[in-house]
Amino acid sequence: MNKFFVILFFLSIVSGSSIIAGNKIPQLGKDPINKVISAMTLEEKAQLLVGLGQSKITNTDYIVSGAAGMTISIPRLGIPSTVEADGPAGLRIDPRRADDSKTYYCTGFPIATLLSSTWNTDLVKEVGAAMGNEVLEYGCDVLLAPGMNIHRNPLCGRNFEYYSEDPLLTGKIAAAMVNGVQSQGVGTSIKHFAANNQETFRTQNSSNISQRALRELYLKGFEIAVKESHPWTIMSSYNKINGVYTQEDYSLLTSLLREDWGYKGIVMTDWTDLRNTISQVHAGNDLMMPGKSDQVKEIVLAVKSGELSISDVDRNVKRMLEFIIKTPRFKKYNYTNDPDFKSHASITRKSADEGIILLKNDDNTLPLKTESGKIALFGVGSYNFLAGGTGSGNVHKAYVINLAQGLKNAGFELQPKLNSFYEKYIEAEDVQIKELNGKSAWWQVFMPEEAKIIPEYIENRAKDSEVAVITFSRSSGEGFDRHKTEGDFLLTKNERNILENVTKSFHAVNKKVVVVLNIGGVIETASWKNLPDAIILAWQPGQEGGNSVADIIKGNVNPSGKLTMTFPVSYSDVPSSKNFPSDYQGEKFNTDKKDIGYTDYDEGLWIGYRYFNTFDKSVSYPFGYGLSYTTFDYAAAKIKKSGKSYTVDVKITNTGKVAGKEVAELYISAPKGKLEKPAMELKSFAKTKLLQPGESEMVTMTFNLLDLASFDESLNSWITDKGKYKVSIGSSVQDVRQTIFFDVKTMLKEKVKAKI
Ligand code: BGC
Repeated sequence: MNKFFVILFFLSIVSGSSIIAGNKIPQLGKDPINKVISAMTLEEKAQLLVGLGQSKITNTDYIVSGAAGMTISIPRLGIPSTVEADGPAGLRIDPRRADDSKTYYCTGFPIATLLSSTWNTDLVKEVGAAMGNEVLEYGCDVLLAPGMNIHRNPLCGRNFEYYSEDPLLTGKIAAAMVNGVQSQGVGTSIKHFAANNQETFRTQNSSNISQRALRELYLKGFEIAVKESHPWTIMSSYNKINGVYTQEDYSLLTSLLREDWGYKGIVMTDWTDLRNTISQVHAGNDLMMPGKSDQVKEIVLAVKSGELSISDVDRNVKRMLEFIIKTPRFKKYNYTNDPDFKSHASITRKSADEGIILLKNDDNTLPLKTESGKIALFGVGSYNFLAGGTGSGNVHKAYVINLAQGLKNAGFELQPKLNSFYEKYIEAEDVQIKELNGKSAWWQVFMPEEAKIIPEYIENRAKDSEVAVITFSRSSGEGFDRHKTEGDFLLTKNERNILENVTKSFHAVNKKVVVVLNIGGVIETASWKNLPDAIILAWQPGQEGGNSVADIIKGNVNPSGKLTMTFPVSYSDVPSSKNFPSDYQGEKFNTDKKDIGYTDYDEGLWIGYRYFNTFDKSVSYPFGYGLSYTTFDYAAAKIKKSGKSYTVDVKITNTGKVAGKEVAELYISAPKGKLEKPAMELKSFAKTKLLQPGESEMVTMTFNLLDLASFDESLNSWITDKGKYKVSIGSSVQDVRQTIFFDVKTMLKEKVKAKI
């Protein structure tokens, strides 16, 4: 190297810039982005639009071991790699690293469905901030969460990663989560955009949906989250919508997302194999993950041959650079690898306390009145408690408090014979599972079968215990849908026998029975819910789960969670059950096969309570339902209008004997117009503070004229009809406490650009 270049090289190190032959190479963050783009070669541009490739991350070239993906670095332009890691229940990275004695566990927060069951956006934001802090302190840049697909069908294997059957609730909870995570200076990726409502053949299946159902149900939550929380990234889904892969769909990713909704961040693909690279770049899919070198070559060749316009490439590159510049890695954040696990564990417990739902509580069985007697704790799930689901929604957590431990921590005494019976049983099951691991399906691996217990043994426990608690657990995860059969949607014969025998024996000696549902999605309850005295829907409540359920059982916490979906009487009552792969028997993919190659969303708008309520069909538990240890009175509802916005105030009073929180739900019934509409639709909600007995709070709920609109396909417009609207404020969709009316004087119309 001659002297001149040595000096240049030295200067470039000192200034952080590269200087070649007197021309300063633009640096990201120091020079305008457009300058950086003009200094990039076509290859560099193409590389930036394609992830680093998963093999590199899991093998040698990782920054954070176990993260799902990375973007490439271009050091000469000051562009660092960024790190993207799952997922909805907390950060998912490898807990251990080669040649490193330190552990990298993350907090296992409650599943998304539990978080939405809190109906508490402030609390969800707090959970998000704790998750975001772990992302930051473990050196990651983006959390691949929240998942926010609609619970179209109870059997979708990933419903636990999603929030609700209702788009407004989904959107509001997701926005709170994004705002929480991003408050830490890291990004989110709201996913899976869009209509990824089944796992069976998720990478090939086409969700065939009407424009109206798409807009009102499947896109609405995303629209709310985009507008109210500005996620840094969005993950386009594996599936097709109406025959087009979402990742290749210009109308979805550009016309709708950016032009209609004003989205400014990047779109990345879900972790797909090769697809049509040119279409993806053109559509506005900025980043292809996890990334393959073929994709880089394809972009370069397509630009050279004129098949792909360089302006499409530059547009996506610009968005990538705008994203990278915000990341902690770009800002050289000095992460600690040492998040505050203690405070995060207490946030986890607090959020699970608020999202657990009390489904039944006859004769005030709960909270349990005495601690002098012993609890007969049945159910393999009580000892092998499921904190979360499987797949990318799983978190490598340091511990899980099971229910047995949680009850003991709360000061309860467990019937020791039953305790040791189950511990030995689980030990024996573990031997089998360990041997079968890898050969059997993963949900079986995580969920040992219930033990067989003879009735006489149960009778003895009824004599030497004071109360029975039985846990039923269910697990599911990415890649598979659930089954409508026994052992999944239905209880197994053995579970049912135990429930029948326990209730018979305990009731015979005037003792109570409590069922705990440790599940990730809806199960059948109608045929057995009359048997126990109380039912707690604990969901999969995260690593502190056993403590949270014990908080409810003991009455340290008054339950205030409410259902974010309907529990039907039977699976076949659900309209989408006619078009869902609930009978999937392992057959091969076939484009022409119903529910395999394509899934017709024939039910249109009739999802969840929109269907059951409109057509007056009975359900096991309605949307928005959840009991409390106290009672609440609703009074003095008033509505005020200001411009296009409405504010509804309602006074909620705790009329019972213990402190509690109440969720107030606001539903709208629209006047009869051109389009058929659901009888009631959720348009706002609010949760009170902890109200002491006798205390009142005036809660405020808001919505605007456009929120009342339906999508008229013939006009490609949102239309709010004029006429008389009914506001129903209640404790569930079936428990309306206050009704008021208001008039809309002129019709409102908002035309959209996109047609999906
Ligand atoms: C899942 C995504 C996840 C990604 C990265 C995919 O299989 O569908 O939700 O973020 O993997 O792990």
